[in-house]
Amino acid sequence: MSRSPDPNWLGNATIYQIYVRSFADADGDGNGDIDGVVEHLPYIKSLGVDAIWLSPIMPSPNHDWGYDVSDYYSVASDYGGMPALRRLIEQTSQLSLKVILDLIPNHTSSEHPWFVSARSNVESPYRDYYVWADPSDDGGVPNNWLDATGSSAWTYDSNSQQYFLHNFLSTQPDLNWWNPKVQEEFQNILRFWFDRGIDGFRVDVAHGIFKDRLLRDDPAAPTTDASPFTHFGLLETYSKNRPEVHALFRNWRQLAATYQPPKLLIGETWVGDVDRMIRFYGNNDELDLAMNFPFTFADFQARTIAPLITETLGKLPAGAYGCWAASNHDISRFPTRWCNDDEARVRSALMLLATLPGTLILYYGDELGLGDSVLENQMLRDEITAQTSVGFKRDYARTPMPWNNDPKHGFTQGNPWLPFGQVTTSVETQQADEHSILNLTRKLLSIRRENVSSPLVTCLLDELAWSYRVGQLEVHINFSDQRVQHPTSAGILIDSRGSERPVPEGRNTLEPFDAFIIRSS
Ligand code: NOJ
Repeated sequence: MSRSPDPNWLGNATIYQIYVRSFADADGDGNGDIDGVVEHLPYIKSLGVDAIWLSPIMPSPNHDWGYDVSDYYSVASDYGGMPALRRLIEQTSQLSLKVILDLIPNHTSSEHPWFVSARSNVESPYRDYYVWADPSDDGGVPNNWLDATGSSAWTYDSNSQQYFLHNFLSTQPDLNWWNPKVQEEFQNILRFWFDRGIDGFRVDVAHGIFKDRLLRDDPAAPTTDASPFTHFGLLETYSKNRPEVHALFRNWRQLAATYQPPKLLIGETWVGDVDRMIRFYGNNDELDLAMNFPFTFADFQARTIAPLITETLGKLPAGAYGCWAASNHDISRFPTRWCNDDEARVRSALMLLATLPGTLILYYGDELGLGDSVLENQMLRDEITAQTSVGFKRDYARTPMPWNNDPKHGFTQGNPWLPFGQVTTSVETQQADEHSILNLTRKLLSIRRENVSSPLVTCLLDELAWSYRVGQLEVHINFSDQRVQHPTSAGILIDSRGSERPVPEGRNTLEPFDAFIIRSS
């Protein structure tokens, strides 16, 4: 399947992340599905995005909603199976939209035939596909590694009297990437999907695929460190984050480059500083894009976020592009986390996101300014976070898309798999309002496509506000609750309601938390 081969598309691209189960349900079983995505392609196209990334669609027992794969060569039947994916690929291709799937190489489901065989028999050819270890000298777990719930990352298998490793749930055993056969399996998996016409993969837990061969203990994090990058008081120095992963990504990039146009590799590189994140690009010969979590988790303040953006852009290897996202299915949505659900701030944040050179990933609902939907505990469906007392409940960021104002919000005819929580807006409401956040997003993404290019140059940065030039745009953002005045160039001013007017060179006022863009005329 050929799509427009534009090697520079990542310079001002937008990818729309779809949490498939929550987007649109075409068959009325209460679960979003691929045909639901197909039905809404005109809407997706109308946003002005270049690509969609689908959360995992491969068969899974769904302990982690598809992040526990039981078959890497097919599509789950409740999502519509392979025929639905074929329909999606055909129709997105007609609309010049690219399709990116989620690849989960760190672990399989415990129901994957490889693990079933490995666990049942120490002589199994699949035994060494996983990470097994003897009990420690005192008979306990092999080391101090913790899984995603904060319990030991090791589960005892009484049959073989060894432990197996699981960095997430015990139903998600980690693969042993030191085994060349595992590497071969994934070469085949990549080729299988690339040959079926998908345009690339988002690589799950990209930083964590290799574990320390000696299984050394993770060190304690400084007690003052409560960042999203510490793991129940530990630094994941040995349980993840091993340097051997770079050779793997060079290898995958070469494989991706055998296609025309080359397939895209985006890494979920969950690391806490820009230098470590940048390493995943190699010399622009590893991942095409490394998700910038230091940016995602930065405070929405001028003096925090501006230096992070300029540092990132300054450190990218030649020819590589930044990757910016503010929301996803694992964290609090940006309108709540960055903006305290304040509309002015949400609009400003979208102005920032849409004018950053590189690739922007918008999460479904970002275009509506959708914040977190708090659900009652007994409604939660996410095994990883429902039971833990610390951290964000991921279901708050996974509630179904509100398409309209009917009781089931146009999402399903059945019973939604996850409640909506409190719905305060919908696509229908915002379509009808010329100045809605939705219509602002559309305008911003079209401005992005036409005008954003590297480099980004700061004009003014202080405690309150930031202004910068990028391509033909001059962007002014007030991060504070005070009114500020900025020197501005002549051009067309686009305000945070999406209205445009010509302005001469001079000074313009930014209201608290407001932003505007001036496009040189
Ligand atoms: C990161 C994914 O985004 C998350 O949803 C999942 O639980 C873990 N990886 C494990 O696959």
